[in-house]
Amino acid sequence: MSARIEPFGPRTPPDPALVSQLHAQLLPDSPVALLGRRFMEEVYYLLLPAAGLVTGAVAFLGDDPAGFVVETDDADGFMDSALRRWRWRIARVVCLSIGASPARLRALLDARRIMSGRENRGGTPEGEILSLGVLPQFRTTRLPAPDGPRLSEALVAGSIERLAHRKVPRVRAVVDGSNLATQLFYRSQGWQLEPTTKPGWRAPTVDFVLELQGSRAPLTTPGASS
Ligand SMILES: CC(C)(COP(=O)(O)OP(=O)(O)OC[C@H]1O[C@@H](n2cnc3c(N)ncnc32)[C@H](O)[C@@H]1OP(=O)(O)O)[C@@H](O)C(=O)NCCC(=O)NCCS
Repeated sequence: MSARIEPFGPRTPPDPALVSQLHAQLLPDSPVALLGRRFMEEVYYLLLPAAGLVTGAVAFLGDDPAGFVVETDDADGFMDSALRRWRWRIARVVCLSIGASPARLRALLDARRIMSGRENRGGTPEGEILSLGVLPQFRTTRLPAPDGPRLSEALVAGSIERLAHRKVPRVRAVVDGSNLATQLFYRSQGWQLEPTTKPGWRAPTVDFVLELQGSRAPLTTPGASS
């Protein structure tokens, strides 16, 4: 069975249930997962890719989803853009999610803290790899080419290509300080440790950056409205 990578974005929207499932399985403690399945399926992986605020790809082995990556070309602004476009729709979904599980309120407050910590920071505009994961049983799988890349490598290479195409000058990845495998992964792909960190999620984090060529152009695609 051969592996393949299927990119998603405004023209080829993802299956929100499928990406949400991968996200919940691989990154269960991330803000998006903690806000609940409804938030992922009805907001994050439905509205945001349709508007080009996030793009990404899913890796498959035959029919089996094996991993995913999600990136944005506007690390500091993509969630604010979503809130401006769909404020009431998002508020409704978040209220229903918190109503179903009040513990999600903490995730909401933490998400808000991260967003406000990223406001008005100035400096070089950045893209960001927001989520990355390959299911453990597929981590040694390679794409079918002579010396084909591992799925993780192919997923991240695709992200970089999409962001470079959109003239993003620099890409960041924020990794938990305790997540050694992912830190080794980014180091092995030529990313540099970045001393200036962005607010992370609860645990102490380590930031990696990759400088890309070119100048910035308008990045997001005008998209769906609520
Ligand atoms: C990030 C991820 C996609 C990378 O997958 P991968 O490239 O297939 O590789 P692995 O995770 O198996 O390992 C990456 C490297 O770290 C090494 N490594 C893994 N666990 C390790 C550990 N506990 N101690 C030391 N080295 C370790 C591996 O040997 C490998 O290095 P190598 O390629 O030079 O041999 C995968 O680890 C993953 O899905 N993790 C769970 C989700 C996650 O944490 N995502 C990142 C969120 S920021």
